[in-house]
Amino acid sequence: MEAQYDYGMIGIGTMGRNLVYNMCDHGFAVAGFDKDTKQVEVFVKEADKRKVFGTSNVNDFIQALKSPRVVMLLVPAGAIVDSVIQELKPLLSEQDIIVDCGNSHFTDTDRRIAELSKENLHFMGIGISGGEEGARYGPSIMPGGAKEIYARVAPVLEAISAKVNGEPCVTYLGPGSSGHYVKMVHNGIEYGVMQLISEAYHLLKEGAGLNNAELHQVFCKFNEGPLQSFLIEITANIFSRKDDLTANHLIDVIADKAQQKGTGKWTSQSAMDLGTPIPLIDAAVTMRELSALKEEREAAELKLTGPAQNFKMIKDEMILELEQALYFSMIAVYAQGMALLQQASKEFEYNLISADVASIWRGGCIIRATMLENIRSAYMRQPSLQNIMVDDFFAKQLNKTQSSARKIVQTGVENGIPVATMMSAIAYYDSYRHGWLPANLIQAQRDYFGAHTYQRTDRKGIFHTHWDQKQA
Ligand code: 6PG
Repeated sequence: MEAQYDYGMIGIGTMGRNLVYNMCDHGFAVAGFDKDTKQVEVFVKEADKRKVFGTSNVNDFIQALKSPRVVMLLVPAGAIVDSVIQELKPLLSEQDIIVDCGNSHFTDTDRRIAELSKENLHFMGIGISGGEEGARYGPSIMPGGAKEIYARVAPVLEAISAKVNGEPCVTYLGPGSSGHYVKMVHNGIEYGVMQLISEAYHLLKEGAGLNNAELHQVFCKFNEGPLQSFLIEITANIFSRKDDLTANHLIDVIADKAQQKGTGKWTSQSAMDLGTPIPLIDAAVTMRELSALKEEREAAELKLTGPAQNFKMIKDEMILELEQALYFSMIAVYAQGMALLQQASKEFEYNLISADVASIWRGGCIIRATMLENIRSAYMRQPSLQNIMVDDFFAKQLNKTQSSARKIVQTGVENGIPVATMMSAIAYYDSYRHGWLPANLIQAQRDYFGAHTYQRTDRKGIFHTHWDQKQA
């Protein structure tokens, strides 16, 4: 076997396969490996005239690659990544690179970098977003690892990535696990936006009584304004999709139990560890969990009552207010994700440039949205901006839309329609804009029952009070 392939891809299921064809269309020759011979067959067949080589024999696969080798992995996160690495290790030579393109946990990526560096092998963690379509025609790519190693894969990543105004949606993000961390936060934001849109759907369906054709129209209209984004666009399309099996709209026969592979939860877990508030993302994860309790919810429906529904807003008014409320909440969720990245960057020494992150999210990925252009501009104006909510542009947008967000949340609460993430957007906003919060009481309580001490506003030092001591 002559070593004539530029790159290798392990895992040639839908995503891996499409990524390979994308690479081939940009002039690269790629070898694909999969244990599943059926996948190999499909891979070779669909490749058509492209220069690929498919095999289920790992030795043949490695021998087909030009040296120093670059082996990409698109396999499920977790133990499988480790077992693939173990299998590859004896076959690789010094300076070869393994690139993990899956949604691996960032701590696993750091561990793998350390383990492989002992054997002079390089490991990079790269987040790729955009689903099947993105993989095939241009994803957003979030690479992390050693800068000199990135330089070796930069040409192919830049070639295959999505482009916005000619700029590739990929750039070197930082060392270690930074790429996978950024991808994880991308997914956290994705969970938040999806839940926000679902709450809007609930209100429009139950409150304004919109049918699917009307919902389609409303979301198409939303997609022409400040909410313009991939997730709003596909939501509009979902409402017009007919079922292949029945005469219904497909959306009406899909079970209302959200699943998850864990990246949203990881975002919340990491934010808790870093002490960074991302309440909207936390609420979105929680709502997926609540949705999964289908049987419990159906039983509770028979026992627990809500208010008599009385929607004071007429349909058109609700649609207008909702557009504003969604915009308000979306600013909050991107603000939380970006703030988390800044904190993680300090803690893990990623040296992330926030404007770069916003820039590569503008195209190809699931959370791409017009708003990201504004986020990028905000960070270009102020690279160390702590929270985009206080950027002049976003402060103006929030000040303008906050009353609509309140009206919509009020409508939800008054009518017993859960709007957990929209509510949490307002609570985040109101807390962040309050110079004073009632945490003095929490400090007093802690000191009262546990002698945890407190600081004062009028003098320096640490204080403790004997709270139950009789005072004159
Ligand atoms: C992407 C997506 C993708 C993710 C799915 C499913 O950026 O292309 O984020 O990486 O795996 O969206 O995620 P859940 O199963 O957790 O919803």
